[in-house]
Amino acid sequence: GSRLARVGVMTSGLERARQKMLDAGASAAAVDVFTHYYQQLGQPGGGYIREDSLEPLTDPPRLASIDIDPDAAADALSRTAIIKLNGGLGTSMGLDGPKTLLPVRGRKTFLDILVAQVLRARERYNARLPLIFMNSFRTREATLAYLERYDDLAVGGLPVDFLQGFEPKLTKDTLEPIEWPADPDLEWCPPGHGDIYTSLVGTGLLDQLLHEGFRYASIANGDNLGAGPNATLAGWFAQSGAPYAAEVCPRTPNDRKGGHLAIRKSDGQLILRDTAQTAPEEMEFFTDEYRHPYFHANNLWVDLAALQRLMAERNNVLGLPLIRNEKNVDPSDKSTPEVIQMEIAMGAAIEVFPGAQAIAVERDRFLPVKTTNELMLVRSDAFALDGDARLCATTERLPAVSLDKRFYALLPDFDRRVEYVPSLREARSLTVNGDWTFSDPVTVIGDAVLPDEGEPRVIEDEAIGRR
Ligand code: UTP
Repeated sequence: GSRLARVGVMTSGLERARQKMLDAGASAAAVDVFTHYYQQLGQPGGGYIREDSLEPLTDPPRLASIDIDPDAAADALSRTAIIKLNGGLGTSMGLDGPKTLLPVRGRKTFLDILVAQVLRARERYNARLPLIFMNSFRTREATLAYLERYDDLAVGGLPVDFLQGFEPKLTKDTLEPIEWPADPDLEWCPPGHGDIYTSLVGTGLLDQLLHEGFRYASIANGDNLGAGPNATLAGWFAQSGAPYAAEVCPRTPNDRKGGHLAIRKSDGQLILRDTAQTAPEEMEFFTDEYRHPYFHANNLWVDLAALQRLMAERNNVLGLPLIRNEKNVDPSDKSTPEVIQMEIAMGAAIEVFPGAQAIAVERDRFLPVKTTNELMLVRSDAFALDGDARLCATTERLPAVSLDKRFYALLPDFDRRVEYVPSLREARSLTVNGDWTFSDPVTVIGDAVLPDEGEPRVIEDEAIGRR
């Protein structure tokens, strides 16, 4: 009885969600994709990828040891478009605009640096190299307004951004589209970065890129300043003939969370396994950095012609694993109703491209900023910008930064307390417990721990820590 009741509730929830999307102007294709994933919501746990169905990925080709003819590399880069994911909401840092508008080096924002990397590579390789952002309804306006200062950014008839889709947030108990009259914008969310494939087709950009002579896309998170244009990688990808490739990085004991690639035993296909696809009792394998020695960096190479064929074959529904995210309808207010946001990960698409490959890159291509800990680090002197606008570590081993979540997790709280980013070049670790303000320059040496003194404090020493 209760199963039938649940199916009944889900049917009406789905109908209402579909209608709501259509009323808001969503395309028929976006509604189809939503419907496909909504139906998976009813089967929790069905999507686990079992350890014994996998062969670990232990020996991918390595960027550091491949040899590509420089002309072939430059040629491949000249047929490559750079795409940056910029549609996320940055809820973990409490943002209400695009994360890429935050300053990172002095007054330079992520956007300034991403643009500089591309302009520099255009010059160096004499490549057209379009830079195109995937925005969501939440990030488009501010991003385009900021980019107006760069009048030479657009290439040919190509736009500098495209808009991803939107879907209703669902009430946790009944999976109906939630209503939130106080701020109707909060009733919607972007469907995760896996939406890129649907949106590239739906906006016509995929056809346009191919028409303008671009064959490859190099895709990465907008907040990852490590993933700049790379001619050797482009050359390797073109030469490999693979339809799709994912960059992976060697794992350290600290990289226990991100997804990893593995080889599916049944057919030898590379697949991505995220925490959401791992059974709780198998997490020990998932987190074992000896067993699965590389993690997925979310930097992808896609053959646009192969993507176009695949999307046509599959009627625009790739059918990737669903990630069920639980949040509050107002993410900044934990007392508001709980909602489900259905998300698809871009990297999950590796499993639907026969012949997809992986390539191991160094850690310098993976510098995402998810938390204010990472923001402090990339703003500090532990990094510098080189002549190609690449963010380079200035120290052998980056320090571990751990700031008290109560006082630093959200950006406004962090900014208020960190007027001067401390010098971290000589630091091994910085742990801040309690409410400390950095109102003057301070140098962290070795390991430093600021204790919780139960009241707001200001750091008065010029140097803290111990070698
Ligand atoms: P994350 O899912 O890690 O999201 O996206 P986020 O925005 O950084 O952070 P939280 O979880 O809300 O705090 C990784 C990259 O993918 C983009 C983000 O902008 C980021 O560059 N993204 C994410 C999209 O473009 N669209 C989406 O629907 C989701």
